Amino acid sequence: MAVSREEFVSIMSAFPTGVAIVTTLDEEGRPRGLTTNAVCAVSAEPPMLLVCVDRTSRTLAALRHAKRFVVNFMSESGAEVCALFASKSDDKFAQVDWEPGLGGVPRLTGDALAYAECLTEQELEAGDHLILIGLVEAGSAPDPERAPILYYRSAYGSTPSTAS
Ligand SMILES: Cc1cc2nc3c(=O)[nH]c(=O)nc-3n(C[C@H](O)[C@H](O)[C@H](O)COP(=O)(O)O)c2cc1C
Repeated sequence: MAVSREEFVSIMSAFPTGVAIVTTLDEEGRPRGLTTNAVCAVSAEPPMLLVCVDRTSRTLAALRHAKRFVVNFMSESGAEVCALFASKSDDKFAQVDWEPGLGGVPRLTGDALAYAECLTEQELEAGDHLILIGLVEAGSAPDPERAPILYYRSAYGSTPSTAS
């Protein structure tokens, strides 16, 4: 017995998350990517994180082929870019600033707050998603001048101010 898909989505909407754009390269070396929030730290030594990718994602074949990906943690200025990478647009990268990182995998330079460059260590099947576990080979700490974008109850938002 399990709740319906709709109930599950509704239950999980109670959990606020950050938003990350996962980028990679396809077989022809073209940049690919999708918006995610199912991202989690896994291990500190060695440094590993996971991202859950829907089997219907058009980026998934590229992720599996490249065996490399970059997790671009997005800042609150990045709502439009997050919406673009959550779409099925054929040329998401024509509309954003990016540079090649390790192995040529794109790092988003416009609205990202930080990034983690990963080598895929494991793929686990989990229902209609694949869990990709990546070893973090390089990355950057959050830009202190920027705040992360949040996702809660199916909407983007800003970090609540901590100023007293
Ligand atoms: C805030 C947000 C978070 C998302 N998180 C995920 C996720 O963790 N994994 C996933 O596979 N799709 C996630 N999606 C959906 C994908 O971004 C969406 O299906 C996208 O169209 C996939 O693009 P692609 O088919 O070009 O890979 C999320 C969408 C949004 C708006």
